[in-house]
Amino acid sequence: MAELKREIEQLKRERNALIFAHNYQLDEVQEVADYVGDSFYLSKVAASVDCDIIVFGGVRFMAETAKILSPDKIVLLPELDAGCPLADTITGGDVRMLKQRHPGAPVVCYINSSAEVKAESDICCTSSNAIKVVSSLPGRKVIFVPDENLGDYIAKQLPDKELILWKGCCNIHAKVKPSDIQQVRENYPEAKIVVHPECVPGVVKLADFVGSTSEIIRYVESSDANVIIIGTEVGVLCKLRTSRPEKQIFLLHSGLVCPNMKKTKQQSIYDALLNNQYQIHVDEAVAEKAKHAITRMLGVS
Ligand code: 13P
Repeated sequence: MAELKREIEQLKRERNALIFAHNYQLDEVQEVADYVGDSFYLSKVAASVDCDIIVFGGVRFMAETAKILSPDKIVLLPELDAGCPLADTITGGDVRMLKQRHPGAPVVCYINSSAEVKAESDICCTSSNAIKVVSSLPGRKVIFVPDENLGDYIAKQLPDKELILWKGCCNIHAKVKPSDIQQVRENYPEAKIVVHPECVPGVVKLADFVGSTSEIIRYVESSDANVIIIGTEVGVLCKLRTSRPEKQIFLLHSGLVCPNMKKTKQQSIYDALLNNQYQIHVDEAVAEKAKHAITRMLGVS
């Protein structure tokens, strides 16, 4: 592994490449990354970074977003079939249908969506800025796609808005049930429970804190609680194991492992750099419209 790490470092230098890793990536990928963070942070970095190649440890919509923001760079997704089932629940055609049904209502798309869906949307959002983005829009009615649970969370925070929701959800976060929280409260009455807004409303309602992956990490790092139970993907534990080794940190559910996020290994990063694989391409007209939705989000947050 140490040898592979050295070879990745060398290839990175030779090719003027930078490695991005989402907080859900395996420890071995986060270890070789130049930037690790949540979807919002990684989009901001992609818009401003100086390099020839971005190797994206994540899933397709994340690499696509980086390509849209940095069209002159080569963006590589090391595992071709690392996708997001939530993003796949909706197409650009579905968004057009919603716009016809609700004329005049602006469309907000969660960043977990394809370039085609972003191109049909007025503005994009991530879990860390969704409330800010939706409240920045004029009028009452807003179409929000594709995550129904995040949409429900925003609607509850912004009672003046009427959100038209799409019925998509992350099947990993949906595994956590309110009964898991009740059980944990009984076993660890002193524990703090923190969850991602992709969890179902009954879970979000019972949590002590709700936030994006990076917000969850920051909450745990600054919390006085010694026992913290987390309702998001296991990858967030990578940083916390080293930054807060004294704390007892558990997952709310043993199934909080995203198989798509776990496809990328150090070996795939090395192969990506060596063979220039797999290059992300986004149709120019689609990319231009999608870029408008993403940069509008970056302007709001
Ligand atoms: P974050 O924006 O919190 O990183 O979440 C992205 C994601 O895909 C959650 O499942």
